[in-house]
Amino acid sequence: MKAPLGRAVKAAAAAALCLVALSLPAAADFGIYYNIDHFSAYADSKGGFPSQTFRSSDIVAPVLQVNSWDRARASDGGARYLFLGGVYGAMRAGPMIFDSRDLSLVYADQQYDNAYTSSAFVVNGSRYLAFWEGMRSRGHANGYCLVFDEEYRLRHNVTAKGLRDGSLADMHEVVLTPQMSVIFSTYFNRPFDCSPVGGPEDGLLMDSGFQEVDAETNEVLFEWHASSHFDISESYAPYSEAYGVAQDSGYDFFHINSIEKTTDGNYLISARHLSVLTLIDGRTGKPIWILGGKRNQFQDLSDGSATNFGWQHDARFLGGNQTQITMFDNHGEVTGRCGGAVCHSRGLHLEIDAEAMTARVVREYFHPQGVNSGAMGGMQTLESGNVIIGWGYNPGFVEYTGDGNPVMDIQRGKIGVDPLADMFAYRVGKHPWRGKPTWPPSAAVEAPNRTTLNATVYVSWNGATDVSSWAVLSHDDATRINNPQNLIATSPRLGFETAIFLGANHSNRYVAAAALATDGSVMGSTYVMDMETGKPVMVASGITTVHPWSLAEALRPESYETAAVAMACVVIVLLGAALILNRCSRWLSARRRAVKGRVDRAAYTKLGMED
Ligand SMILES: *[C@@H]1O[C@H](CO)[C@@H](O)[C@H](O)[C@H]1NC(C)=O
Ligand SMILES: *[C@@H]1O[C@H](CO)[C@@H](O)[C@H](O)[C@H]1NC(C)=O
Ligand SMILES: *[C@@H]1O[C@H](CO)[C@@H](O)[C@H](O)[C@H]1NC(C)=O
Ligand SMILES: *[C@@H]1O[C@H](CO)[C@@H](O)[C@H](O)[C@H]1NC(C)=O
Ligand SMILES: *[C@@H]1O[C@H](CO)[C@@H](O)[C@H](O)[C@H]1NC(C)=O
Ligand SMILES: *[C@@H]1O[C@H](CO)[C@@H](O)[C@H](O)[C@H]1NC(C)=O
Repeated sequence: MKAPLGRAVKAAAAAALCLVALSLPAAADFGIYYNIDHFSAYADSKGGFPSQTFRSSDIVAPVLQVNSWDRARASDGGARYLFLGGVYGAMRAGPMIFDSRDLSLVYADQQYDNAYTSSAFVVNGSRYLAFWEGMRSRGHANGYCLVFDEEYRLRHNVTAKGLRDGSLADMHEVVLTPQMSVIFSTYFNRPFDCSPVGGPEDGLLMDSGFQEVDAETNEVLFEWHASSHFDISESYAPYSEAYGVAQDSGYDFFHINSIEKTTDGNYLISARHLSVLTLIDGRTGKPIWILGGKRNQFQDLSDGSATNFGWQHDARFLGGNQTQITMFDNHGEVTGRCGGAVCHSRGLHLEIDAEAMTARVVREYFHPQGVNSGAMGGMQTLESGNVIIGWGYNPGFVEYTGDGNPVMDIQRGKIGVDPLADMFAYRVGKHPWRGKPTWPPSAAVEAPNRTTLNATVYVSWNGATDVSSWAVLSHDDATRINNPQNLIATSPRLGFETAIFLGANHSNRYVAAAALATDGSVMGSTYVMDMETGKPVMVASGITTVHPWSLAEALRPESYETAAVAMACVVIVLLGAALILNRCSRWLSARRRAVKGRVDRAAYTKLGMED
């Protein structure tokens, strides 16, 4: 919907900005912790989920701990926004986007039971937010892959089709390809002879694999099941309840947790329970090569440390030529401090030669505080060469320079302790994003005097990336608030929510706030708030004629009515001018004739005189 006050305030707010004294702003966001003891105490007081709430929004936002942050070396550039997903409060899960410059929350959509792998993808020059939401069960899940555009409109909603037991898309992976297809992991049960691993002959296998689905048509373009290409005895997972075995659930021998399609149409996948990365042929489904695990085909040029990764996540090719691979190597199933010993969990950058069949370690990235993570985790390499690692069961994420120096070390919960359900950092990444929500900004007020006198206005705009500052207008008539002369306060954006104290200089009944871009133009505005009740009032919209007409304004496509009025004015003025010109020219020619007559007569007279 169109915010009622937007257009009216636009030009004026910008112009008036410099004329209005900045009122004392107060941060509504809780802020960032820098002291780990204080943070841990706060985390404990919140059941392990350090979080905050707001006045103008019902979002529950994380409260973060910064252990170290070298702002100059943490990459900014285009990839300015941090993407993560997770649960907050009472099962309020969803994707979250943070501004990496101040770590403030920019966007959260917390309507889901669980949310995983929230990330941004570019297809055909447009950016999309894609993530998984749904219900979990026994290490995997059933749900939907959702794709939203930068205006937060749901564009695609896809899930698995045709799986044996009706299973839906699993949570471990969601990839949006340049062809606008969605690749996700699948888990499903099938009867299977489990005797090779000590199970019954008429056992149940929890097979896993993936589907690639056309996002437009929901047609399955390719699907792959592990049990057709790998033997269950290749698994390191014991045949036990901890690995899926139950009445209604099979032995999770493979545990796929990442899939990446290559430009030549093959798929790089990670199998946690085999400790294997394998490149799958995009036509036959056959493994082209197998790296790690019991059937490893690569010679290790790094004394064993290139192929001894295990229980790993998030395998990616780096660059175009499929020689560089990154992953998060959990290296085991233990979570906690390394206890003085050498740590094993690492971000791992390998170089492979798939012709000579060799592999070597290019670089390892360890956690600055010495922890191992037994589950989850991810690694992203940025264009700047920096990498970001989500430390899985240790709910922290760390950005490193390419040569392995940590430049940003952040926690969303306590690390080095026993894992807490739903408190983790699975995939964490930095991406460019330009959020342009179609809903208006939102406001709440605290008005002790039931007027603007000494009142505080709280403003936020979930999803908007480009808000630079806020302007507050007030008036006693709700329908006349949008006159630029009513501007009483401005404040820079101070976080997800900005609190603006209005001082004792005004005592009006109504306020409204506008979100301003860096150039001072209005991006959107709130409903009018009634200080008497503390609630928003609905104001008749269509207030487009209260500010002076300007050419720039009229040329904006939103300003058709203004433009039409302006055009009519121009036409009238032109007609008037034409009429006047016409009259003038007639008068002038009449006058010219009269003058000529006089001149002629004079000449005649003169001639006559000369004669
Ligand atoms: C996605 O599709 C499923 C199945 O039709 C539906 O239940 C779910 O509500 C959809 N999700 C959204 C966000 O619309
Ligand atoms: C990309 O854009 C072109 C031109 O608008 C269009 O023809 C094509 O179908 C688009 N591709 C996808 C995957 O949307
Ligand atoms: C592959 O790319 C990397 C850098 O991205 C480069 O160092 C390497 O030489 C390339 N290898 C081949 C075979 O082109
Ligand atoms: C608001 O302030 C005015 C001026 O100081 C005062 O007269 C009035 O009683 C106050 N009203 C409330 C509800 O506090
Ligand atoms: C408004 O606040 C100022 C101090 O901030 C205080 O001196 C004044 O009494 C307050 N006025 C009212 C009507 O509450
Ligand atoms: C209120 O008005 C006084 C006097 O005009 C001025 O000095 C002061 O800065 C104003 N305060 C605010 C918060 O605008």
